[in-house]
Amino acid sequence: MYPNQRFRRLRTNQAIRSLVRETSLSPNDFIVPLFVVEGKNVKEEIASMPNYFRLSLDHLTQEVKTLWQMGLKSVLLFVKVDEKLKDNAGAEAINPNGLMQRAIDTVKQAVPEMLVMTDVALDPYSVYGHDGIVQNGVIENDTTNLFLAEMAVSHAKAGADVVAPSDMMDGRIQVMRQRLEDEGFYHTGIMSYSAKYASAFYGPFRDALDSAPVDVKDIPKDKKTYQMDPANRKEAIKETLADVQEGADIVMVKPGLCYLDIVRDLANQVQLPIAVYQVSGEYAMIKAASEKGWLDHDAVMLEQLLAIKRAGASLIASYFAKDAVQLL
Ligand code: PBG
Repeated sequence: MYPNQRFRRLRTNQAIRSLVRETSLSPNDFIVPLFVVEGKNVKEEIASMPNYFRLSLDHLTQEVKTLWQMGLKSVLLFVKVDEKLKDNAGAEAINPNGLMQRAIDTVKQAVPEMLVMTDVALDPYSVYGHDGIVQNGVIENDTTNLFLAEMAVSHAKAGADVVAPSDMMDGRIQVMRQRLEDEGFYHTGIMSYSAKYASAFYGPFRDALDSAPVDVKDIPKDKKTYQMDPANRKEAIKETLADVQEGADIVMVKPGLCYLDIVRDLANQVQLPIAVYQVSGEYAMIKAASEKGWLDHDAVMLEQLLAIKRAGASLIASYFAKDAVQLL
């Protein structure tokens, strides 16, 4: 008696394994998140994100040149906003000379071909650390949408190629698309954070930008009234199909690892490119465990990135982009 099927034949050696491999990673897959701060010659390591930095504009110039040379062709910009510039309306977010607007220009000056994506949400600009305008203890939906559309236009004017709303207000893609069209930004894309969960994995990011929801009486201390419940699957599909309808060009699932079932569901139903954001907490876990010598950093990193693609994503926003590309 012998086994009917010997699956191990196709695993015999490296050559045959690579021949039958179904999924692969390439520099084309990655979006590199970058944290930008005011100042000159500032390169601050983020405590909970080892080997990841907040960069001033001069360092940003160097960094995007390095990325381009490595074959990394898109960046996703976030800014750390001075406490004095925060309010409950986002005035600084549409300042034509604000840090984000200058960062966009800086990247384009350094590497004109680099694809510039920008975070569109109020939290880095909000005194309350919320993604929208807060009124009577509620994160306002419709007034926030009107504002986010202006923020998107401001980024487009500064030279952004793709705006990436990460706020989870209802209907914001439609309002934003309309405003961009009205202003003639037909080619400015929208990458929608369409299935974004109220996850505990965002902690290190909120450290990086000092953007955590504040602990103030009558203000929600978490984002559960707009970000999705990790228990829900159908909701992710409804949210994403709505964003497709409203005019998104790319949809996104966030975080990555715990939500790959959602990625697969969407890959089976949605014809747009699907991005995954492998978030700060996912980065921190691998860094911490490998610092202790408990996990093999590179192997675990590549395994997770590969799993994201296998699940059905074609784009990955990841703090590991540089590390990964060096190994490919
Ligand atoms: C906020 C925003 C967050 C992230 C991206 N945009 C945090 C949040 O929703 O509180 C998280 C990214 C990460 O953890 O790496 N609009």
